[in-house]
Amino acid sequence: MTITAKINKWNPDKKIISQAAEILRSGGLVAFPTETVYGLGADALNSEAVRKIYLAKGRPSDNPLILHVHSIAQAESLVFMNEISRKLAKIFWPGPLTFVLPAREIIPLRTRGGLETAAVRMPDNPVALALIEAANIPIAAPSANLSGRPSPTDSESVYQDMNGRIDFILDGGSTEVGIESTVIDVSNPEKILMLRPGGMSREIIEEAINTKLQVPDNTSKKRSPGTRYKHYSPAIPVKILRRDKAVNIPDNSGFMGVNNFDGLKFAEKIIFDDINNYAHGLFSGFRKFERENLDYIFVEWPEDNTGLAEGLRDRILRAACDYV
Ligand code: TXA
Ligand code: MG
Repeated sequence: MTITAKINKWNPDKKIISQAAEILRSGGLVAFPTETVYGLGADALNSEAVRKIYLAKGRPSDNPLILHVHSIAQAESLVFMNEISRKLAKIFWPGPLTFVLPAREIIPLRTRGGLETAAVRMPDNPVALALIEAANIPIAAPSANLSGRPSPTDSESVYQDMNGRIDFILDGGSTEVGIESTVIDVSNPEKILMLRPGGMSREIIEEAINTKLQVPDNTSKKRSPGTRYKHYSPAIPVKILRRDKAVNIPDNSGFMGVNNFDGLKFAEKIIFDDINNYAHGLFSGFRKFERENLDYIFVEWPEDNTGLAEGLRDRILRAACDYV
C-alpha cells in the first residue's frame, strides 16, 4: 500500500518530513515534489534501495539517476566539482539545473548506471530540501512515473503510476516548471555539453559562463543514456501540428498549444498563454486527455526560441516519436 500525505509546501510539517525521511533511511521509496516534476526518491548511497527505483519504474538499469542534495557542500562530497560547476551552482542552485561530474567512489555503481560520472542537483522546493536534510543522505530520484510515461507534475499522477509500487507520496501540490531539469556535463570546463534541455534555458546558462553550450557528439550521447529511450508518452498517440502544414484532424482529438488553430475542429483544446505555460502544462495535459479517452493528441510545434522552448520541443519530439 502506498500512503499519501498532504504537506504545506511553504511550511512543511516536521513530523511528516521525518516520517518520510525515516522510510528513506531504511531503504524505502518516497515520491516528493520538486520545482520541475515529482521525483521518486531512495537513499542514493544504498544500492539495494536504488534497485527498487528501477523495479518500481520498470526503468532500464543503464539509465543513471540524479542525486538530489540540499547544499553545495553535500554535492562536493559526492562528485569532484570544479570552478565552473561551483560558479554555476552558486548562481542557479537551488534550481532546475543538473551537473554531470566525475563521481566519487562513495556513489554506488547502480546509482550512476555503471558510469564514472554522476549527476547532482539541488531542487528549488522547500519540501524536497527539508526531506533531503532530514534524511541526511543524498536522494537518488528519477521522475516518479512508470518508465516511458509522461512525468508527473502533481501527486495524483504519481499515485496513478506508482500506487502499490512505492511506500509514501508527499503531496505538495502542483510543480511550477512542469518539465525536468536541464542536464549539462561540466566535467570538461573547456567543453560544456548540453545533455538534456529542460527547466533552465540555454541562454541563461550561456550568459552566466560566457560561452556556448556544445551539442554532444555520438560518443558523449552514449554518456547520457536517458536520451536514448522513448519517453513522456501517454497511452494515446501524440501528433505534432505545424502552422504551415495542412492536416486532417480525426474526430475526438485534443489540442495543446499557444495558438488557436481556428480552422481546425478539435473535441477539446488547451491554449496556453505563452511557451513557459505550455511547458508547465504539457505533461498534465497528456494525462488529462488520456483520462477523457480522446483518440489523438495534437500538440503545436513551438517555433520560437524564448524561455523553455528548447526543452519543450525535446519533450514533444520524444512523446511523438512513433508518429513523426
Ligand atoms: O527535474 C529533474 O531532473 C527530475 C526531478 C525529479 O529532479 N528528475 C529527472 O530524473 O528528470 P530522470 O532520471 O528522469 O532523468 C535523469 C537524466 C537522464 O536523462 C539520465 O540519463 C541523465 O539525467 N543522467 C544521470 N546521470 C548521468 C550521467 N552520469 N551522465 C550522463 N547523464 C546522466
Ligand atoms: Mg524521467
